[in-house]
Amino acid sequence: MNRFKSKVAVVTGGGGGIGAAICKRLAREGAAVVAVDMSPSAVLPVVADIIASGGVAEAAVINVADEGACGQMIEKLLSRRQRIDVLVNNAGIFRGGKLLDLSDDDWRRSFAVNLDAIYHLCRSVLPSMVARRAGAIVNTSSQWGLHPAPDCIAYNVTKAAVASFTQNLARDYAPDGIRVNAVCPGEIYTPMLEQGLERSGRSIDDLNKRVPFGRVGTSEEVAALVAFLASDEAPFMCGSLVEITGAQAVA
Ligand SMILES: NC(=O)c1ccc[n+]([C@@H]2O[C@H](COP(=O)([O-])OP(=O)(O)OC[C@H]3O[C@@H](n4cnc5c(N)ncnc54)[C@H](O)[C@@H]3O)[C@@H](O)[C@H]2O)c1
Repeated sequence: MNRFKSKVAVVTGGGGGIGAAICKRLAREGAAVVAVDMSPSAVLPVVADIIASGGVAEAAVINVADEGACGQMIEKLLSRRQRIDVLVNNAGIFRGGKLLDLSDDDWRRSFAVNLDAIYHLCRSVLPSMVARRAGAIVNTSSQWGLHPAPDCIAYNVTKAAVASFTQNLARDYAPDGIRVNAVCPGEIYTPMLEQGLERSGRSIDDLNKRVPFGRVGTSEEVAALVAFLASDEAPFMCGSLVEITGAQAVA
């Protein structure tokens, strides 16, 4: 498939498990990919892999919670490439705990990275999409944003806000030809999930058994869904919150 030929895609959290898979998938399908991440050691190898496979990619090493950095990155990109066809707001952090276990920093940082970054980037990218009357935005929410899991109120509330933000943006900008959707993954095997296993003392086998499908998901499976939602194959998908969970209910 070559669904993103001549298209420019910006993917945040591009150095992480799901983000790297999204970058590689979009690049393999022809996109020029801008992989955005605050960790150079995570994102530079992703870009190198894409280029080594004949794709087009560059890294933008910024903190997406920094409004100024987001604005400057998008401005520079637009002046060089004239267009952004796809924005994938995927960067996220997990700060667990019940309300009384959280620090103020856990709460504020969760909102800054998981929600405010999406606000900054959409505000920077949308004017150029509206002017062209075309563009697709895909946000990474979570199954836990729709059905909260216990003991992670900050994460769940930010992901619920991402889901609502997605539906609001979709309604407001559908008349301008912009499609906005969200993916809501269940348990996906990534560095974030590995850290969760370490914290809980559970093994991957324990987690696999909890999923009716018999295993947790892969980053590539989420990337395939993101690519579909961002592509012209999904022209009437707008404002959708798509769960990808292997039929797992929240425990
Ligand atoms: N793994 C799962 O089971 C799962 C389930 C549901 C939703 N999600 C969501 O999927 C997204 C990707 O998660 P993942 O599992 O690939 O995580 P990950 O930890 O592997 O990757 C996250 C990436 O985001 C980057 N990042 C974090 N804060 C940043 C910031 N302020 N600025 C720029 N980059 C930043 C990190 O450096 C990292 O490379 C997140 O939004 C996460 O909440 C993951």
